[in-house]
Amino acid sequence: MATSPSYLVPYPQRGSVLADAEVDTITEILRSGAPLSGGPYREAFERRFCELVGARHALSVTSGTVALSLAINLLGLRPGDEVLVTPQTFKATIQPLLDLPVTVRFCDVDPMTLNVDPAGVEALVTERTKAIVLVHYGGLPADMDRIMGIARRQGIVVVEDCAHALGSRYRGRRPGALADIGCFSFHTSKNITTLGEGGMVTVHNEERGHEWAERLDRMRSNNSDAVFVPAPLRIGNREDAPSWMLHAGNSYTHDCVEMRYSGTNATLSEPAAAVGIAQLDRLDRLVKRRRENSARITEVLRGFPFVEPVAEPADVVNAYHLYTFLVDPAAGVDRDAVVERLRQLGVQLQLRYFPLHLLPEWRARGHRFGECPAAEEVWFRRQVNVPCQPSLSDQQVSHLLEALHTALTEVERTVR
Ligand SMILES: Cc1ncc(COP(=O)(O)O)c(C=O)c1O
Repeated sequence: MATSPSYLVPYPQRGSVLADAEVDTITEILRSGAPLSGGPYREAFERRFCELVGARHALSVTSGTVALSLAINLLGLRPGDEVLVTPQTFKATIQPLLDLPVTVRFCDVDPMTLNVDPAGVEALVTERTKAIVLVHYGGLPADMDRIMGIARRQGIVVVEDCAHALGSRYRGRRPGALADIGCFSFHTSKNITTLGEGGMVTVHNEERGHEWAERLDRMRSNNSDAVFVPAPLRIGNREDAPSWMLHAGNSYTHDCVEMRYSGTNATLSEPAAAVGIAQLDRLDRLVKRRRENSARITEVLRGFPFVEPVAEPADVVNAYHLYTFLVDPAAGVDRDAVVERLRQLGVQLQLRYFPLHLLPEWRARGHRFGECPAAEEVWFRRQVNVPCQPSLSDQQVSHLLEALHTALTEVERTVR
């Protein structure tokens, strides 16, 4: 059986740093004897998160995937509705759309930022477009003013996948409060974690925000997102239902006339939420370290004209969940050879992300190669992601920089 090589610079299995504060808070909760679900830590975590991001509401859930699923289900999309999405993201961003009878249109990315291109959005919007689901790729905020301008004109709801963008900024504001609904992940690989899994939905729509937050709260806590109307007491005529029957909720007094989402249990446990609070205390330091590592990688790349990092426009702060650079195939650079050489030099790489429209489940719905030429060119010929997580030691960062320098110096000898 083949053994996997061990790498001097590992791909981030942990994107965050957990230390005494996290251990202490878990110990305190476990020793307290308090319930481990539905208590003050979850509420406090949501309040802190909401204030940090600047959103109107924040509701914690068990993963980023669940956050996206609840957010997309909330929209009440109907047959014939169209949804614009980015192809350059993790599959969870748009997975819930596979279950809905809607038309999904993949909007190509700007090859300099790998974010959805506003000009492409403009070109694809029709009167049937009901939603745009985009990601802030790698932590680099998408061009939200332009995208929201188009969306507001047409009454389109925008969902931001902020799984990479906790700690990022766009023109002084934070992802999660740049559109209508934001979805965050606290998976082990992300900028902060709530014990390996976790997520948050933020709601920022002025008119419908309150209603949406109430519905999301029901959906995540095993209560149906449905319309119930008062009805005659007809189940056993129990007008005087005793307290031990209360778990049956409004069963005695209401009928259900519209079911939108039957509900699920996706609430965050108390220890997870408490760790989330400790991680928020640490967030600025974690992002600072990501940015320092990234600046050093960029410095090495500057010496080689046939590679360029993903752009960071002047008015944004990239939290660098991913560090991505692009090689220039026109100069004769073979991306796969660069990746292989870096691996030989001890750097573990995973390329993020395979264009979603080319996944079998999306091809089965009629999507084809050629639909998003920029995303395809980036994935198949140009893109390299290298580790930049804050848990890398100084020695590991130095090794990464040396490996990059070595690999690119070798390429330099072969390019035109
Ligand atoms: C862009 C993006 N969206 C959504 C998710 C899903 O988050 P989770 O793993 O918490 O379900 C991830 C990562 O895992 C992601 O990278």
